[in-house]
Amino acid sequence: MKTAVPSAYGLLRELSRAFRGEGIEEPEREAEILVCHALGISRTELYMDACHVDERALRVLDSLFRRRLRREPIEYLTGCAEFYGMRFRVGPGVLIPRPETEMLVEEAVRILNARKSAAVDVLDICTGSGCIAAAIAAEVPSARVVATDISAAAIGYAVENARLNSAGNVVFVQGDLFDPVGGRDFHLIVSNPPYVKSGDLAGLQREVSGYEPREALDGGEDGLGFYRRILEEAPQHLREDGVLLLELGAGQCGAVAEIASECGLRVARVLKDLAGIERVMVLEGPAVQGRA
Ligand SMILES: C[S@@+](CC[C@H](N)C(=O)[O-])C[C@H]1O[C@@H](n2cnc3c(N)ncnc32)[C@H](O)[C@@H]1O
Repeated sequence: MKTAVPSAYGLLRELSRAFRGEGIEEPEREAEILVCHALGISRTELYMDACHVDERALRVLDSLFRRRLRREPIEYLTGCAEFYGMRFRVGPGVLIPRPETEMLVEEAVRILNARKSAAVDVLDICTGSGCIAAAIAAEVPSARVVATDISAAAIGYAVENARLNSAGNVVFVQGDLFDPVGGRDFHLIVSNPPYVKSGDLAGLQREVSGYEPREALDGGEDGLGFYRRILEEAPQHLREDGVLLLELGAGQCGAVAEIASECGLRVARVLKDLAGIERVMVLEGPAVQGRA
């Protein structure tokens, strides 16, 4: 990349061209994001092309450009990701929230809003950046949300993200799956656990395999290790009429439904994402089934 480009708009055009040449999937969008980030300007200011570009900004942009060419995710470069219309801090050590996970939040909010009780207890297992927990907490102020993750780095991001999004009704605890909540039970348990088969990890996009934490992705040999553990333990932590919501990986629905049935849980429904993939499983405990 040349460094003596005088205007923001000129930089945008040069960066887009370079990204396109390097096979970056959305060259214009990513160039826009990085130029705005490096120059500290909005999109509108970028297109007005009226801002001053100094040497320092050029150096920052050049460094971001090189990191992106090494396929570091753009969200790690800017330090933030959008999820459910909210902004979340992300960086090395935490999974970047994915758009398909918004379905899990939408369904959780729908279920919680349909309940009659004033206060509801919600547990988010494998919270990562805290995106699911903070979004539910912000959308349903009467919810008392607890969220767990084994990674100290993830918990650090999650705490900051709840604060940034003014979600005061959520607490984060570090630990293995249900361990941090002891004998407590919940009206709603949600989880987007690691679900990639260990053998498939190396073949993921370079942005994912090279940068995102392995512990956020690796679901064991068949990708189902976390579903087994969560489904086995969930019945002890669900209230009488409690519901469990799980995000699923592509092609895992049948196997997860089988494990659920062995654990005494019933699949109430499965929601497909925009690509037609069975993405969210809604499960009920034995008490609800008894009443049906
Ligand atoms: C697929 S990521 C989901 C993150 C976030 N909920 C989201 O949807 O973006 C899975 C998360 O599970 C966490 N994790 C892995 N093993 C765990 C364990 N034994 N107990 C709790 N969390 C675990 C990882 O640190 C990671 O943050």
